[in-house]
Amino acid sequence: MSMSDDLETPRLLRVLAGEAVWPPPVWLMRQAGRYLPEYREIRAQAGDFLTLCRTPDLAAEVTIQPIRRFGMDGAILFSDILIVPWALGQSLRFAEGEGPRLGDLHDAVDLRLDEVPDRVAPIIQTVAKVRAALERKTTLIGFAGGPFTVACYMVDGRGGEFLKTRNLAYTDPALLGAIVEKVTQATITYLTMQIEAGADCVMLFDSWAGLLPPDLFATYVIAPSRQIVEALNTRFPHVKIIGFPRLAGLLAVNYAAQTGVDAMAMDTTTDPALLAAHVPSKLALQGNLDPLLLRAGGPALLAGVSRIASAMHGRPHIFNLGHGILPDTAPSHVADLVGALRALAEPPDMST
Ligand code: CP3
Repeated sequence: MSMSDDLETPRLLRVLAGEAVWPPPVWLMRQAGRYLPEYREIRAQAGDFLTLCRTPDLAAEVTIQPIRRFGMDGAILFSDILIVPWALGQSLRFAEGEGPRLGDLHDAVDLRLDEVPDRVAPIIQTVAKVRAALERKTTLIGFAGGPFTVACYMVDGRGGEFLKTRNLAYTDPALLGAIVEKVTQATITYLTMQIEAGADCVMLFDSWAGLLPPDLFATYVIAPSRQIVEALNTRFPHVKIIGFPRLAGLLAVNYAAQTGVDAMAMDTTTDPALLAAHVPSKLALQGNLDPLLLRAGGPALLAGVSRIASAMHGRPHIFNLGHGILPDTAPSHVADLVGALRALAEPPDMST
């Protein structure tokens, strides 16, 4: 690769390839959402959230809104992890102010893998529209839920403690295994389509990975994630994958070593320097400012941004939150965060 090609590689993709870039590239989970007045306007126009996800022109517009306003290095596809159960034929609605509600699931054979490509087609159109509209320097991040997290919503039918799903791991492991396997296959199909339509990298959101003990974590989080990584690596050797085993604690070290992901997102409870000492030096780490500190704003926010970026100086790091932006966050705080990062000077050399 020539020097100029090197310089033209987008900053976020350079970090995913294992390079330390300063100041670090930034994007924020839930950067498109209710805290933005321009999002609320499009959301009202669409009517409900799922219609917004399935209307490519509107979904593309809300994906791009935060890039236009703040100029992050990455745009994340506007959709939801629960599109996969819906694509497999399970009914899904978002009850206003209550979160997702899914239909009863009695048997994994009711889940229709053959229907997935047609059902996700509008979301794939959104990917193509966004990639065509963005500048090359902005990385388009495709995503899906981790199979265990998606299965949690499918079995329990709604958010919460996911006791039905966790009980199933002991009372009917064959059923939970069959559901997770269907979701894994659907996810491989869905992410393959996103990459073919223009996603530059993909992220697996395993938001409820931290609910499992170590043996079940290996079975339901690590194994299916590795299956997805291997399938995508075979087809797309250059496309990088970010994993997010949220609240997994020390098990995140196993996740990093065993799934084959190129990057790992850190939740709010993770000490970045401590985790960095236990994962390969080329593995990119992403995160992990407390969304409540972003909401609070002011000098404490600026200090928090600088503390996390400095702790990760010299290793591949993508700045992000530890979880999604809260809906009552002031947009000006997001501008402050991005501005503070871009203004960071090289930290003093602490080695002497
Ligand atoms: O900006 C982005 O991060 C991209 C879009 C995105 C959404 N959801 C949009 C959304 C992504 C990547 C997700 C992932 C997602 N969805 C996760 C994993 C990440 C996490 O937060 O832990 C989970 C668990 C879900 C399931 C989900 N979707 C819930 C529980 C809810 C209801 C709670 C809520 O905040 O309203 C959603 C709805 C949802 N997904 C909204 C958005 C913008 C709110 C819809 C609205 O009312 O406009």
